[in-house]
Amino acid sequence: MSEPIIAVERITKQVKDSTGTLTILHEIDFQLPARQSVAIVGASGSGKSTLLSIIAGLDTPTTGRVRLAGADLFDMDEDQRAAVRAEKVGFVFQSFQLLGNLTALENVMLPLELQGRTDARVLATDMLKRVGLGERLRHYPKVLSGGEQQRVALARAFVVQPAVLLADEPTGSLDFATGERVMELMFELNRETGTTLVLVTHDRGIAARCDRQLRIEAGRVDLATAAL
Ligand SMILES: Nc1ncnc2c1ncn2[C@@H]1O[C@H](COP(=O)(O)OP(=O)(O)O)[C@@H](O)[C@H]1O
Ligand SMILES: [Mg+2]
Repeated sequence: MSEPIIAVERITKQVKDSTGTLTILHEIDFQLPARQSVAIVGASGSGKSTLLSIIAGLDTPTTGRVRLAGADLFDMDEDQRAAVRAEKVGFVFQSFQLLGNLTALENVMLPLELQGRTDARVLATDMLKRVGLGERLRHYPKVLSGGEQQRVALARAFVVQPAVLLADEPTGSLDFATGERVMELMFELNRETGTTLVLVTHDRGIAARCDRQLRIEAGRVDLATAAL
């Protein structure tokens, strides 16, 4: 058996405030083989976004380990984690997080430039064409619709062909048809480039299309979904 690309081992996340300690995640365990897709589902406030941030190494757990493409994320310092992220991980958040002072093309070129690629312009242009935005290269985010911005965000995440794509309700703020298109694109790119998908979603149809579903309830994995 090859090593899973994502291994989450007994992750607990607690936060303290004046009223005491709140446990947001409680001993979460799961593994995902490369090229697969998992939908993380569960009620609002159950801990899905916190879990995704920890898998990304953007937030730190109170206890537990995450191995991502062989790297033990919380054995590393910030710089090492950032390097793993830049090399292996793409993100799509609900709020697109595009840079407003850069054009669509420049937004998509950025992660390639950070990797020192000299072919950034060509690759970014190709990826924007693939998401149907070939006519929008020089447009700034503020003149693009929500669906178009989300597709730019998707192009930016996919252009480096990350081993893992983490998406937090990527269609949550889109109308149905646009959401379907964005999702179609994610699965297409998953098939073509073998990118592992971790999708937080409320959409049952999308969840059903993933290889697995992991249900989080009040910070715990629903055992009915744990062994899948
Ligand atoms: N830094 C924090 N401090 C205190 N509470 C937090 C913090 N981050 C998240 N929470 C709480 O943890 C719970 C889970 O949040 P979240 O992971 O955003 O849930 P979901 O994405 O499933 O809606 C919520 O009750 C939220 O208010
Ligand atoms: Mg959330």
